[in-house]
Amino acid sequence: MLQHRHLLGIEGLSKAEITTILDLAELYAKQNRSSQKHSTALSGMTQVNMFFEASTRTQSSFEIAGKRLGADVMSMQMSASSISKGETLIDTAMTLNAMHPDLLVVRHPHSGAVALLAEKVNCAVLNAGDGRHEHPTQALLDALTIRRAKGRLHRLTIAICGDIAHSRVARSNLLLLGKMENRVRLVGPRTLMPSGIEQLGVEVTDDMEAGLKGADVVMMLRLQKERMDGGFIPSEREYYHRWGLDPAKLAHAKPDAIVMHPGPMNRGVEIDGVLADDINRSVIQEQVEMGVAVRMAAMDLLARGLRNHKKEEVYV
Ligand code: NCD
Repeated sequence: MLQHRHLLGIEGLSKAEITTILDLAELYAKQNRSSQKHSTALSGMTQVNMFFEASTRTQSSFEIAGKRLGADVMSMQMSASSISKGETLIDTAMTLNAMHPDLLVVRHPHSGAVALLAEKVNCAVLNAGDGRHEHPTQALLDALTIRRAKGRLHRLTIAICGDIAHSRVARSNLLLLGKMENRVRLVGPRTLMPSGIEQLGVEVTDDMEAGLKGADVVMMLRLQKERMDGGFIPSEREYYHRWGLDPAKLAHAKPDAIVMHPGPMNRGVEIDGVLADDINRSVIQEQVEMGVAVRMAAMDLLARGLRNHKKEEVYV
């Protein structure tokens, strides 16, 4: 079980909790490959997905995960333009809260919005990505994918490459991989590197050859153009030339290095399209598969907490 009511970020999770989620997800991954995909962990429960930002894989993954666990699942389409932040977000949450959902899955463009909402409701809240802050289930699914490919989740060299500054995926990943005692390198243009990030115990470089040298895992990030207001990169062509992953750059990593990408991909901008589809190197489809399993595990564990704790009891 987890020591928390909510899953808001990797930051608050212990090493043991991360392992608990991944171990359970491993069982769900197996079940998901069978023709009997249903279980009853969430039976009788209501799961509401509130996505205030566009999402394809994360939203469908949470929806499938909830259905496979037997919950009643409702996905609300919240277009970003219809909300005016703060008060409206809380009002929406309070309205939903009155309908007694058990699990609320929330994605929001503002860092910290999901945690704010979690303070106002009685159910368990899962952060499906808040601004540039955290995307915990993405880091967990990446961790499970790495553990399955490499046979372990410690003492690996992992290069996270590209648009670090705008990426909640990078942030959650570097927190998780650091906790599990891996060597993390951040690679990308200086303009897309948050200042002072070295203080988190990561190595930073703007050179792909140096960054990928000897890496076990090469994790590419999407160039998050919607979070940029110009001037971050010279041109997409130049960006691909210097930081786009192609076979020549990948040759600097270990011969058995795996290639990852959270999706959606900009083919020919941050990654070569053929390489992304190369099943001998790329685990991008496996990431999607593990996404469902990890979300099932996280919701199962939070639901166990809800069933075992009385509402008044305080979680850490
Ligand atoms: C990521 C996200 O939304 O943060 N995508 C995802 O969840 N699969 C990364 C991205 O949008 O680039």
